[in-house]
Amino acid sequence: MSTPPPQPDPHADALARARDLLATARHVCVLTGAGISAESGIPTFRSSMNALWKDFDPATLATPQAFAADPERVTRWYDHRRLGCLAAQPNPAHLALATLERRLRARNADFTLLTQNVDGLHRRAGSTNLHELHGSILSWRCTVTARSIDPPPTPFERFPPPSPFDPAGLLRPNVVWFGEMLPEDALIAADEAARTCDVMLVVGTAAEVFPAAGFIELAARHGARVIEVNPEATAFSRFADAKLRGKAGELLPEMVG
Ligand code: OAD
Repeated sequence: MSTPPPQPDPHADALARARDLLATARHVCVLTGAGISAESGIPTFRSSMNALWKDFDPATLATPQAFAADPERVTRWYDHRRLGCLAAQPNPAHLALATLERRLRARNADFTLLTQNVDGLHRRAGSTNLHELHGSILSWRCTVTARSIDPPPTPFERFPPPSPFDPAGLLRPNVVWFGEMLPEDALIAADEAARTCDVMLVVGTAAEVFPAAGFIELAARHGARVIEVNPEATAFSRFADAKLRGKAGELLPEMVG
């Protein structure tokens, strides 16, 4: 009896392709979303909310209008999320990206990490050329002076928290709410990285929120090869040269080695 011919293994092929692309890249730009922190236990906006907050719709809380109408409710919700982020730990996917940055730098290649996450886990994992497109939940700013602080890792004593900088001010999280502009320096850096990278690695994002999602197409239009790591297909999968279907915490360490 003859042995059957070997079957193609799409996962192994995609992994080998991704490794080749990373091994020869001169500038890797990475775009991450909530999926990379899922294995650290941080719920995404679009996943089911936990019991305490199940009656709260993030799309209606994450707006300047919601804060103006009910600052106590909005800041309580963000403080709960802030403490959850501080209690979480970077997972193997965050650590693999920090390793990738060190490897690229060691051979004089560039690395730019763009994240839509506000949880601070990339920084804690050791990534340095990092742009937090949607801000950081660990930093809060005064509504009057715009000065920022990183509050201690304990719940605020009063809601809404009073500003330490101005008696008339409140503290609000330094995150980008729906309808607000992204930080200009992060936008400029992201645009530049998307235009100049030769590999765009997209991890754990549904890529439905613009302008962040637009950087994938911008990179592809400027000739970058696209690697996607996501258990599910997305609207941007069509740009991907290597599609890795699975969890970031398992696939990124395999890819980076
Ligand atoms: P989403 O919640 O829209 O998408 C999360 C993606 O992660 C999905 O495509 C999942 O398939 C994928 N995913 C889930 N588990 C994963 C895992 N273990 N490994 C890899 N991928 C996994 O989150 P974002 O795309 O980040 O904006 O959402 C973008 C923005 O929309 C957020 O930053 C926020 C939100 O509204 C603002 O707050 C302005």
